[in-house]
Amino acid sequence: MTIDQIRDQILRGVAGAATREALEEVRVTSLGRKGTVTELMKEIGALPADERRERGAALNRLKGEIEAAIAAAAKRLEGEALAARLRTERVDVTLPVKADPDGRIHPVSQTIAEVVAIFGEMGFSVVEGPHIEDDFHNFTALNIPPEHPARQEHDTFYLAGADAHGARKLLRTHTSPVQIRALQKTKPPLRLIVPGRTFRNDHDATHSPMFHQVEGLVVDRATHMGHLKGCLIEFCRAFFDIEQLPVRFRPSYFPFTEPSAEVDIGCSREGGGLRIGAGADWLEILGCGMVHPKVLANCGVDPDLYQGFAFGMGIERIAMLKYGIPDLRTFYDSDLRWLRHYGFLPLDVPSLVTGPAR
Ligand code: PHE
Repeated sequence: MTIDQIRDQILRGVAGAATREALEEVRVTSLGRKGTVTELMKEIGALPADERRERGAALNRLKGEIEAAIAAAAKRLEGEALAARLRTERVDVTLPVKADPDGRIHPVSQTIAEVVAIFGEMGFSVVEGPHIEDDFHNFTALNIPPEHPARQEHDTFYLAGADAHGARKLLRTHTSPVQIRALQKTKPPLRLIVPGRTFRNDHDATHSPMFHQVEGLVVDRATHMGHLKGCLIEFCRAFFDIEQLPVRFRPSYFPFTEPSAEVDIGCSREGGGLRIGAGADWLEILGCGMVHPKVLANCGVDPDLYQGFAFGMGIERIAMLKYGIPDLRTFYDSDLRWLRHYGFLPLDVPSLVTGPAR
Protein backbone atom coordinates (compact mmCIF):
# COMPACT_ATOMS: atom_id res chain seq x y z
CA MET A 1 0.00 0.00 0.00
CA THR A 2 1.16 3.51 -0.74
CA ILE A 3 1.37 6.12 1.99
CA ASP A 4 -1.67 7.83 0.45
CA GLN A 5 -3.72 4.64 0.65
CA ILE A 6 -2.64 4.09 4.25
CA ARG A 7 -3.60 7.69 5.09
CA ASP A 8 -7.02 7.28 3.50
CA GLN A 9 -7.69 4.08 5.37
CA ILE A 10 -6.66 5.45 8.79
CA LEU A 11 -8.49 8.78 8.36
CA ARG A 12 -11.61 6.87 7.36
CA GLY A 13 -11.24 4.90 10.60
CA VAL A 14 -10.91 8.15 12.59
CA ALA A 15 -13.99 9.64 10.93
CA GLY A 16 -15.99 6.47 11.54
CA ALA A 17 -15.16 6.18 15.27
CA ALA A 18 -18.44 6.75 17.13
CA THR A 19 -17.05 6.50 20.67
CA ARG A 20 -13.91 7.47 22.54
CA GLU A 21 -13.05 3.76 22.83
CA ALA A 22 -13.28 3.24 19.06
CA LEU A 23 -11.12 6.31 18.49
CA GLU A 24 -8.51 5.02 20.92
CA GLU A 25 -8.53 1.71 19.04
CA VAL A 26 -7.66 3.59 15.79
CA ARG A 27 -4.85 5.44 17.55
CA VAL A 28 -3.32 2.23 18.91
CA THR A 29 -3.49 0.37 15.58
CA SER A 30 -1.92 3.30 13.67
CA LEU A 31 0.43 5.14 16.03
CA GLY A 32 0.79 2.66 18.91
CA ARG A 33 3.93 0.60 19.60
CA LYS A 34 2.99 -1.99 16.98
CA GLY A 35 0.81 0.34 14.88
CA THR A 36 0.92 0.53 11.07
CA VAL A 37 2.77 3.86 10.91
CA THR A 38 5.18 2.88 13.67
CA GLU A 39 6.06 -0.35 11.83
CA LEU A 40 6.70 1.61 8.59
CA MET A 41 9.02 3.97 10.49
CA LYS A 42 11.00 1.01 11.77
CA GLU A 43 11.49 -0.22 8.20
CA ILE A 44 13.14 2.94 6.83
CA GLY A 45 16.39 2.13 8.61
CA ALA A 46 17.07 -0.46 5.90
CA LEU A 47 16.65 2.00 2.97
CA PRO A 48 19.47 3.80 1.11
CA ALA A 49 20.27 7.20 2.63
CA ASP A 50 18.48 9.50 0.08
CA GLU A 51 15.26 7.43 -0.01
CA ARG A 52 15.37 7.20 3.78
CA ARG A 53 15.21 11.00 4.21
CA GLU A 54 12.30 11.39 1.80
CA ARG A 55 10.30 8.50 3.22
CA GLY A 56 11.04 9.59 6.78
CA ALA A 57 9.70 13.09 6.08
CA ALA A 58 6.56 11.66 4.42
CA LEU A 59 5.87 9.32 7.34
CA ASN A 60 6.37 12.18 9.86
CA ARG A 61 3.86 14.28 7.94
CA LEU A 62 1.43 11.34 7.94
CA LYS A 63 1.88 10.90 11.68
CA GLY A 64 1.14 14.61 12.26
CA GLU A 65 -1.98 14.46 10.09
CA ILE A 66 -3.31 11.41 11.95
CA GLU A 67 -2.63 13.01 15.36
CA ALA A 68 -4.46 16.17 14.32
CA ALA A 69 -7.41 14.17 12.97
CA ILE A 70 -7.67 12.14 16.18
CA ALA A 71 -7.57 15.29 18.36
CA ALA A 72 -10.31 16.90 16.25
CA ALA A 73 -12.44 13.74 16.43
CA ALA A 74 -12.02 13.55 20.23
CA LYS A 75 -13.23 17.11 20.54
CA ARG A 76 -16.21 16.39 18.32
CA LEU A 77 -17.16 13.29 20.35
CA GLU A 78 -16.92 15.28 23.60
CA GLY A 79 -19.25 17.94 22.21
CA GLU A 80 -21.74 15.33 21.06
CA ALA A 81 -21.73 13.59 24.45
CA LEU A 82 -22.41 16.87 26.24
CA ALA A 83 -25.21 17.74 23.81
CA ALA A 84 -26.78 14.30 24.41
CA ARG A 85 -26.66 14.78 28.21
CA LEU A 86 -28.19 18.24 27.93
CA ARG A 87 -30.99 16.76 25.84
CA THR A 88 -31.81 13.94 28.27
CA GLU A 89 -30.86 15.16 31.79
CA ARG A 90 -33.41 17.72 32.83
CA VAL A 91 -34.10 19.15 36.31
CA ASP A 92 -37.69 19.96 37.10
CA VAL A 93 -37.29 22.79 39.58
CA THR A 94 -41.03 22.84 40.22
CA LEU A 95 -41.04 19.36 41.84
CA PRO A 96 -41.71 19.50 45.63
CA VAL A 97 -38.82 18.60 47.97
CA LYS A 98 -39.03 15.04 49.28
CA ALA A 99 -38.05 14.62 52.93
CA ASP A 100 -35.54 11.78 53.32
CA PRO A 101 -37.67 9.12 55.03
CA ASP A 102 -34.69 7.47 56.73
CA GLY A 103 -33.31 10.14 59.07
CA ARG A 104 -35.03 10.84 62.38
CA ILE A 105 -34.58 13.52 65.02
CA HIS A 106 -34.02 11.96 68.46
CA PRO A 107 -36.78 12.80 70.98
CA VAL A 108 -34.19 14.55 73.20
CA SER A 109 -33.21 16.89 70.35
CA GLN A 110 -36.84 17.39 69.39
CA THR A 111 -37.83 18.25 72.96
CA ILE A 112 -34.92 20.68 73.40
CA ALA A 113 -35.95 22.35 70.14
CA GLU A 114 -39.53 22.68 71.37
CA VAL A 115 -38.47 24.11 74.75
CA VAL A 116 -36.10 26.56 73.05
CA ALA A 117 -38.85 27.65 70.66
CA ILE A 118 -41.34 28.32 73.47
CA PHE A 119 -38.92 30.25 75.68
CA GLY A 120 -37.51 31.93 72.58
CA GLU A 121 -40.92 33.47 71.98
CA MET A 122 -40.80 34.82 75.55
CA GLY A 123 -37.48 36.55 74.87
CA PHE A 124 -35.11 34.02 76.44
CA SER A 125 -31.74 33.36 74.85
CA VAL A 126 -29.89 30.04 74.89
CA VAL A 127 -26.52 29.70 76.62
CA GLU A 128 -24.31 26.69 77.34
CA GLY A 129 -21.70 25.76 79.90
CA PRO A 130 -19.00 23.10 80.38
CA HIS A 131 -19.81 19.48 81.28
CA ILE A 132 -16.71 19.30 83.47
CA GLU A 133 -17.24 21.70 86.33
CA ASP A 134 -15.50 22.72 89.52
CA ASP A 135 -16.89 22.47 93.02
CA PHE A 136 -17.44 26.24 93.22
CA HIS A 137 -19.80 26.53 90.25
CA ASN A 138 -21.66 23.22 90.76
CA PHE A 139 -22.11 23.57 94.54
CA THR A 140 -20.54 26.32 96.65
CA ALA A 141 -21.68 29.36 94.64
CA LEU A 142 -25.17 27.82 94.53
CA ASN A 143 -25.29 28.05 98.32
CA ILE A 144 -24.41 24.37 98.81
CA PRO A 145 -21.44 24.55 101.23
CA PRO A 146 -18.99 21.60 101.62
CA GLU A 147 -20.87 19.71 104.35
CA HIS A 148 -24.35 20.33 102.93
CA PRO A 149 -26.45 17.11 102.65
CA ALA A 150 -27.55 18.10 99.12
CA ARG A 151 -24.06 17.12 97.96
CA GLN A 152 -24.69 13.49 98.86
CA GLU A 153 -28.03 13.47 97.08
CA HIS A 154 -26.36 14.49 93.86
CA ASP A 155 -24.34 11.23 93.45
CA THR A 156 -21.52 13.16 91.87
CA PHE A 157 -19.01 11.70 89.43
CA TYR A 158 -15.58 13.08 90.39
CA LEU A 159 -12.60 13.16 88.06
CA ALA A 160 -9.29 11.68 89.15
CA GLY A 161 -6.53 14.05 90.26
CA ALA A 162 -6.94 16.76 92.91
CA ASP A 163 -5.57 20.31 92.60
CA ALA A 164 -3.25 21.99 95.15
CA HIS A 165 -6.19 22.55 97.53
CA GLY A 166 -7.34 18.92 97.33
CA ALA A 167 -10.32 19.81 95.09
CA ARG A 168 -11.33 17.49 92.26
CA LYS A 169 -13.18 18.45 89.10
CA LEU A 170 -16.57 16.83 88.56
CA LEU A 171 -19.19 16.16 85.90
CA ARG A 172 -21.92 18.73 86.49
CA THR A 173 -24.84 17.19 88.36
CA HIS A 174 -27.30 19.81 87.07
CA THR A 175 -27.36 22.76 84.66
CA SER A 176 -27.54 25.23 87.58
CA PRO A 177 -23.76 26.00 87.51
CA VAL A 178 -24.45 27.84 84.24
CA GLN A 179 -26.58 30.30 86.31
CA ILE A 180 -23.35 31.20 88.12
CA ARG A 181 -21.30 31.46 84.94
CA ALA A 182 -23.91 33.67 83.28
CA LEU A 183 -24.26 35.98 86.31
CA GLN A 184 -20.49 36.33 86.58
CA LYS A 185 -20.18 37.19 82.92
CA THR A 186 -23.25 39.29 82.11
CA LYS A 187 -24.64 42.23 84.04
CA PRO A 188 -28.41 41.87 84.61
CA PRO A 189 -31.05 42.16 83.30
CA LEU A 190 -30.81 38.68 81.83
CA ARG A 191 -33.24 36.05 80.64
CA LEU A 192 -31.77 32.77 79.50
CA ILE A 193 -32.24 29.04 79.24
CA VAL A 194 -29.55 26.38 79.33
CA PRO A 195 -30.29 23.04 77.68
CA GLY A 196 -27.58 20.45 78.16
CA ARG A 197 -26.18 17.21 79.52
CA THR A 198 -25.94 16.43 83.20
CA PHE A 199 -24.43 13.45 85.05
CA ARG A 200 -25.24 11.49 88.20
CA ASN A 201 -23.99 8.16 89.45
CA ASP A 202 -27.39 6.51 89.30
CA HIS A 203 -28.79 3.85 86.95
CA ASP A 204 -32.23 2.20 86.81
CA ALA A 205 -35.50 2.38 84.84
CA THR A 206 -36.00 6.04 85.77
CA HIS A 207 -32.38 7.21 86.19
CA SER A 208 -29.54 7.33 83.72
CA PRO A 209 -25.93 8.30 84.57
CA MET A 210 -26.18 10.84 81.75
CA PHE A 211 -29.36 12.79 81.12
CA HIS A 212 -30.45 16.24 79.99
CA GLN A 213 -31.84 19.24 81.79
CA VAL A 214 -32.91 22.70 80.81
CA GLU A 215 -32.21 25.48 83.26
CA GLY A 216 -33.91 28.87 83.20
CA LEU A 217 -32.77 32.12 84.78
CA VAL A 218 -34.37 35.55 84.83
CA VAL A 219 -32.77 38.40 86.79
CA ASP A 220 -33.96 42.00 86.77
CA ARG A 221 -34.71 44.83 89.19
CA ALA A 222 -38.34 44.00 89.87
CA THR A 223 -38.70 40.32 89.02
CA HIS A 224 -41.10 38.60 91.40
CA MET A 225 -42.90 35.32 92.06
CA GLY A 226 -45.79 36.39 89.80
CA HIS A 227 -43.39 36.46 86.84
CA LEU A 228 -42.12 32.99 87.75
CA LYS A 229 -45.65 31.60 87.92
CA GLY A 230 -46.91 33.27 84.75
CA CYS A 231 -43.86 32.18 82.79
CA LEU A 232 -43.95 28.54 83.89
CA ILE A 233 -47.72 28.14 83.56
CA GLU A 234 -47.47 29.49 80.03
CA PHE A 235 -44.58 27.13 79.29
CA CYS A 236 -46.40 24.01 80.58
CA ARG A 237 -49.53 24.79 78.57
CA ALA A 238 -47.56 25.52 75.39
CA PHE A 239 -45.31 22.47 75.75
CA PHE A 240 -48.10 19.98 76.37
CA ASP A 241 -50.35 21.88 73.97
CA ILE A 242 -53.28 21.94 76.42
CA GLU A 243 -54.78 25.40 76.87
CA GLN A 244 -56.46 24.80 80.22
CA LEU A 245 -53.78 22.46 81.65
CA PRO A 246 -54.01 22.67 85.47
CA VAL A 247 -50.65 23.80 86.94
CA ARG A 248 -49.87 23.76 90.67
CA PHE A 249 -46.95 25.27 92.63
CA ARG A 250 -46.08 23.15 95.67
CA PRO A 251 -43.64 24.50 98.33
CA SER A 252 -40.28 22.74 98.19
CA TYR A 253 -36.63 23.26 99.01
CA PHE A 254 -33.52 23.98 96.93
CA PRO A 255 -30.43 25.60 98.51
CA PHE A 256 -30.14 28.11 95.66
CA THR A 257 -33.74 29.41 95.63
CA GLU A 258 -35.90 30.95 98.32
CA PRO A 259 -38.80 30.42 98.31
CA SER A 260 -38.65 27.21 96.29
CA ALA A 261 -41.42 25.27 94.63
CA GLU A 262 -42.09 22.21 92.58
CA VAL A 263 -44.45 22.46 89.65
CA ASP A 264 -47.11 19.79 89.12
CA ILE A 265 -49.45 19.41 86.19
CA GLY A 266 -52.92 17.90 86.33
CA CYS A 267 -53.38 14.34 85.12
CA SER A 268 -55.43 11.21 85.53
CA ARG A 269 -54.12 7.70 86.14
CA GLU A 270 -57.46 5.95 85.83
CA GLY A 271 -57.40 2.53 84.19
CA GLY A 272 -53.62 2.30 84.38
CA GLY A 273 -52.93 4.83 81.59
CA LEU A 274 -51.60 8.30 82.24
CA ARG A 275 -53.61 11.17 80.75
CA ILE A 276 -52.16 14.64 81.03
CA GLY A 277 -54.52 17.57 81.50
CA ALA A 278 -57.49 15.63 82.87
CA GLY A 279 -58.56 14.16 86.22
CA ALA A 280 -57.73 14.91 89.84
CA ASP A 281 -54.15 13.63 90.06
CA TRP A 282 -50.91 15.62 89.96
CA LEU A 283 -47.59 14.92 88.28
CA GLU A 284 -44.36 16.69 89.21
CA ILE A 285 -42.46 18.10 86.26
CA LEU A 286 -39.96 20.73 87.39
CA GLY A 287 -38.26 22.59 90.23
CA CYS A 288 -38.10 26.37 90.58
CA GLY A 289 -37.86 29.31 92.93
CA MET A 290 -36.71 32.88 93.47
CA VAL A 291 -32.91 33.10 93.14
CA HIS A 292 -31.42 33.05 96.66
CA PRO A 293 -29.88 36.44 97.60
CA LYS A 294 -26.67 34.62 98.56
CA VAL A 295 -26.35 33.23 95.03
CA LEU A 296 -26.65 36.74 93.56
CA ALA A 297 -24.07 38.05 96.07
CA ASN A 298 -21.73 35.11 95.29
CA CYS A 299 -21.73 36.34 91.67
CA GLY A 300 -21.16 40.00 92.50
CA VAL A 301 -24.79 41.02 91.86
CA ASP A 302 -26.31 43.27 94.52
CA PRO A 303 -29.37 41.41 95.96
CA ASP A 304 -30.79 44.70 97.22
CA LEU A 305 -31.06 45.92 93.63
CA TYR A 306 -31.76 42.74 91.73
CA GLN A 307 -33.88 39.67 92.14
CA GLY A 308 -34.82 36.85 89.87
CA PHE A 309 -36.24 33.41 89.42
CA ALA A 310 -34.79 30.12 88.22
CA PHE A 311 -36.11 26.74 87.20
CA GLY A 312 -34.78 23.39 86.12
CA MET A 313 -36.38 20.38 84.48
CA GLY A 314 -35.41 17.02 83.04
CA ILE A 315 -35.66 16.85 79.26
CA GLU A 316 -36.14 13.08 79.07
CA ARG A 317 -38.84 13.26 81.73
CA ILE A 318 -40.97 15.82 79.90
CA ALA A 319 -40.31 14.02 76.59
CA MET A 320 -41.51 10.70 78.10
CA LEU A 321 -44.67 12.37 79.38
CA LYS A 322 -45.47 14.23 76.17
CA TYR A 323 -44.70 11.39 73.78
CA GLY A 324 -45.64 8.38 75.90
CA ILE A 325 -42.18 6.82 76.07
CA PRO A 326 -42.29 4.27 78.90
CA ASP A 327 -38.62 3.50 79.68
CA LEU A 328 -35.83 6.05 80.11
CA ARG A 329 -33.09 3.55 79.25
CA THR A 330 -34.34 3.17 75.67
CA PHE A 331 -33.26 6.77 74.96
CA TYR A 332 -29.62 5.69 74.86
CA ASP A 333 -29.86 2.24 73.23
CA SER A 334 -29.39 3.62 69.70
CA ASP A 335 -31.99 1.12 68.50
CA LEU A 336 -33.07 2.19 65.01
CA ARG A 337 -36.51 0.59 65.41
CA TRP A 338 -37.07 2.71 68.52
CA LEU A 339 -35.82 5.82 66.75
CA ARG A 340 -38.07 5.18 63.77
CA HIS A 341 -41.02 4.82 66.14
CA TYR A 342 -40.37 7.71 68.55
CA GLY A 343 -38.17 9.94 66.37
CA PHE A 344 -39.28 12.95 64.36
CA LEU A 345 -38.93 13.94 60.74
CA PRO A 346 -36.24 16.58 60.27
CA LEU A 347 -38.59 19.16 58.79
CA ASP A 348 -40.98 18.87 61.75
CA VAL A 349 -38.52 20.19 64.32
CA PRO A 350 -39.79 23.50 65.66
CA SER A 351 -37.32 26.32 65.75
CA LEU A 352 -37.03 29.96 66.74
CA VAL A 353 -37.97 30.73 63.15
CA THR A 354 -41.00 28.48 62.67
CA GLY A 355 -42.18 28.69 66.29
CA PRO A 356 -43.39 25.85 68.52
CA ALA A 357 -45.27 23.04 66.78
CA ARG A 358 -48.82 23.80 67.90
N1 PHE B 1 -30.98 22.15 89.80
C1 PHE B 1 -32.19 21.56 90.33
C2 PHE B 1 -32.13 20.03 90.14
O1 PHE B 1 -31.28 19.55 89.41
C3 PHE B 1 -33.43 22.09 89.65
C4 PHE B 1 -33.66 23.55 89.90
C5 PHE B 1 -33.11 24.51 89.09
C6 PHE B 1 -34.44 23.95 90.98
C7 PHE B 1 -33.32 25.84 89.33
C8 PHE B 1 -34.69 25.29 91.21
C9 PHE B 1 -34.12 26.22 90.40
O2 PHE B 1 -32.90 19.31 90.72
